[in-house]
Amino acid sequence: MLTPAATAGDTGWFTDARFGLFIHWGLYAAAARHEWVQSREELPTARYQRYMDYFAPDLYDPRAWAQAAREAGMRYVVLTTKHHDGFCLWDTQHTSYAVTNTPHGRDLVGPFVAACRAEGLRVGFYYSLIDWHHPDFPIDVFHPLRNDPAAAQLNQQRDIRRYAAYLHAQVRELLTRYGPIDIIWYDFSYPERTYRGLPGKGRDDWQSEALLALTRELQPGIIINNRLDLPHTLADVHTPEQFQPREWLTIAGQPVVWETCQTLSGSWGYHRDEATWKSPAQLIEMLVNTVACGGNLLMNVGPTARGAFDPRARAALAVYRDWMHLHERSIRGCTQSTFTAPADCRLTQRGDRLYLHLFAWPFRHVHLSGLAGRVAYAQLLHDASEVRLLEPGGHDEWSIADTDATTLTIELPVRRPDVVVPVVELFLR
Ligand code: GLC
Repeated sequence: MLTPAATAGDTGWFTDARFGLFIHWGLYAAAARHEWVQSREELPTARYQRYMDYFAPDLYDPRAWAQAAREAGMRYVVLTTKHHDGFCLWDTQHTSYAVTNTPHGRDLVGPFVAACRAEGLRVGFYYSLIDWHHPDFPIDVFHPLRNDPAAAQLNQQRDIRRYAAYLHAQVRELLTRYGPIDIIWYDFSYPERTYRGLPGKGRDDWQSEALLALTRELQPGIIINNRLDLPHTLADVHTPEQFQPREWLTIAGQPVVWETCQTLSGSWGYHRDEATWKSPAQLIEMLVNTVACGGNLLMNVGPTARGAFDPRARAALAVYRDWMHLHERSIRGCTQSTFTAPADCRLTQRGDRLYLHLFAWPFRHVHLSGLAGRVAYAQLLHDASEVRLLEPGGHDEWSIADTDATTLTIELPVRRPDVVVPVVELFLR
């Protein structure tokens, strides 16, 4: 089994959990057309203000969110405490641009943390390094004012050091006010992205080294992601976004702890009219494929501005719930197998248990190279029904002749089980 080098953060529980929920929630839920709406449409602060003036999430029930996550088989939740628009979901002392000054009028983060804990879930905070609202955040390639002819001139008034002080003070607040926090998800750095002479931002802007030290000082053991533009060995987790790795993620040839973040549809924030919702098979296969490559899946939901998961998101989470109810064993605590999976299959492994996930259902036989004589028993995981083992050279009248001496053949029912992805559990000798 591949074992990444240890880092400062406590990733033991994390790689065991394998599956978490990302929640992108903020003012952009009201615009309902992507969490980057302010940048995409170059909306000035005054125009974006309406979403704050009317932000009243009357259906906000973090216990329902946490319950849905736990039932879906997730073991941790990461919430956007502040996204790129700069709006804060907690009662911060450092800006008035916060939920306390909306019609809702009260902290959203505290109840969220309490609800997660009550469901036995680990808690993560996403915190945007980018801030399109703060007056000291220099206008850059992503900023809503990037095409303002006065951008460069406006930047002369803006002092990134004051912004960095604000950023650090907010992180201190988040990491001291809500008890133990398991993950901090900083997002993101782009030092190379110069636009019309406006520089990108990275470690010097965020004062990343000091921020890292502060984070570790306030929450020893917290898991810190890799988006601070620091040497990769300082990050606990690497975060490929919106694509599916085909093998264990390595950096400079070494395997690392990794977590891919994905969306249920094509937006992180609630998007009313976006329609590329993934199918049940895609949802389950992404989870399986991730664990089969030794990674975690952080699947995102974007609640509405009323504070609820919309029916499409609920249906997708129910797909995970129903499948995980029967197949949790092939995910939790599992990792990339030392054996090679046959075509259209993914293998996960936990100790002496091997889990064969069948993305396509073959006619009766699957041939498992290298497993002859290694398996004591096999069953379909969803109903614990025996799967017959056909060893090479066996005298069984049903044995098939065309396999080599190292290949074990298993015999499946002709009818595909009625689960999104069927799994065979193999007990190694
Ligand atoms: C990107 C986007 C952002 C989202 C994040 C999640 O960096 O900027 O909207 O929060 O990905 O990984």
